[in-house]
Amino acid sequence: MSLDALLEGDIAGPMASPGTVILRGEGLSKAFGGNQAVDQVSFDLRAGEVHAFVGENGAGKSTLAKLIAGVLNSDEGTLEVDGSPVHFPGPHDAQAAGIAMVHQELSVVSSLSVAENVLFGVEPSRWGWMHRQKMSATARKYLDVVGLHVPPNLSTARLSTAQRQLLEIAHVLALNARIIILDEPTSSLATSDAHHLRELIGALREAGRTVVLVSHDFDEVLDVADRVTCLRDGQWVCTEPAETLDHDKLIRLVTGRDVLVAPREARVHTGEAPVLEVRELTGPGLVHADLVLHPGEILGIGGLVGSGRTELMRILAGDVRPTAGSMMLFGESFAPSAPSAALKRGVSLVPESRKEQGLILHATVLQNIELAALDSLGSGPFFRAGAARMLAAEYVEKLRIKVSSVHAPVNSLSGGNQQKVVLAKVLATQPRVLLLDEPTKGIDVGAKAEILTLMRGLAAQGISVVMVSSVLQELLDSCDRIVVMRGGRTVGDLENVDISEEDLARLAFAG
Ligand SMILES: Nc1ncnc2c1ncn2[C@@H]1O[C@H](COP(=O)(O)OP(=O)(O)OP(=O)(O)O)[C@@H](O)[C@H]1O
Ligand SMILES: [Mg+2]
Repeated sequence: MSLDALLEGDIAGPMASPGTVILRGEGLSKAFGGNQAVDQVSFDLRAGEVHAFVGENGAGKSTLAKLIAGVLNSDEGTLEVDGSPVHFPGPHDAQAAGIAMVHQELSVVSSLSVAENVLFGVEPSRWGWMHRQKMSATARKYLDVVGLHVPPNLSTARLSTAQRQLLEIAHVLALNARIIILDEPTSSLATSDAHHLRELIGALREAGRTVVLVSHDFDEVLDVADRVTCLRDGQWVCTEPAETLDHDKLIRLVTGRDVLVAPREARVHTGEAPVLEVRELTGPGLVHADLVLHPGEILGIGGLVGSGRTELMRILAGDVRPTAGSMMLFGESFAPSAPSAALKRGVSLVPESRKEQGLILHATVLQNIELAALDSLGSGPFFRAGAARMLAAEYVEKLRIKVSSVHAPVNSLSGGNQQKVVLAKVLATQPRVLLLDEPTKGIDVGAKAEILTLMRGLAAQGISVVMVSSVLQELLDSCDRIVVMRGGRTVGDLENVDISEEDLARLAFAG
């Protein structure tokens, strides 16, 4: 079934003609303890528009989205739908008014099947009593539309993070809302799925729906949004038509300053022995990879999704076992049987799917970093609590993690700041080889530049960094050398001197 046909179904609430204001927020405020997350924000949403919310990590985007979706209640201010005041005590009330949200933190129910998740909470009267077969067929339509090709009866527990993200989008489509809020839907998606989602958002707009898109990806924002609202420290900064904006203007709006990545300094080769040597490595998703990493080097890995980049990182981190080939670390054979074994040898990975990676959400920022540091700081009676606290405070500052104190629970942090805690945890293990898989996804534009600067600082201390990124410009900005992968093979190894995005793209696509 095509998307158009699917979208012709019943829509919760009346449809307005394109351009009509269908929702208005006036003076909305929300505080958590003493933290004013949303501060007197007024805005409106129109029928048939894609409205982007942008702002730094912790600016209040998700909180504002939750106020619209009835997930949170405002302390002050009013919401109007179709010109009448509304109050949504909970998300179901917002859904009844035609508003549904895909959350930044995934909320699919693992104990249910894929089909059950798609149709979860969908008014049974609309489908009638559904037996399993009909339910599967109905769910299938939504799964097809989002491009999630898995059997509807599959257990949700078996899905990857990206697949769960697509499942949530399918679920929100099934709710048939006229205002659909997507909170960073692409930050855990592969590039191809992200492109598909852009098309889907365009189709929703054509069908007269309103999409609120929260995103740090300015290309995506400029590509799909009609209007852009910027928040800073919980306050409304502006709402602008997207056609009046460009990349640089967005950076200034979001950060209030010009963010410049300092020019990269060419690294002098001193002919040191390699830190890591990978020869003819073969494994799941990997056909043949060769790699040499020098001390203090930042090595970039480029290539399309599915080219073997993540697979190579997972083998290096001891997460997956290779089937053939050799790895040498500091001149000795390296064949880690588990991530803990790699960690003992000084190799740490910040994985791509950070949403499900090892944060203990109800524990504090300090406890999370402490746990990771146990090995390097020593445990048991000799565990140095003071040292751990200093380390945690150091990373909170270095990574500019927005948190009232290191004693705040991780689940009180914004999504991007939680990701920075994952990075802090890995840094706290004091790795000698740091592996970063898409380190800047979901991270705001200012913090991206800071993470790149931090990587350079680590490299200057002799730590070697391997970084996978889908953003070629990011590789060119930070790496000393770039290896390109295609079809499970390393197909190019270029010193980062006078190479262009086109050179890299040609290598990644050719063949
Ligand atoms: N449940 C909560 N408890 C306490 N504080 C919270 C809670 N949720 C959010 N906050 C705080 O409110 C502020 C705004 O957070 P919010 O999640 O809205 O930011 P955001 O703009 O979505 O950021 P990101 O880009 O990182 O997702 C932050 O300072 C955050 O720590
Ligand atoms: Mg958020």
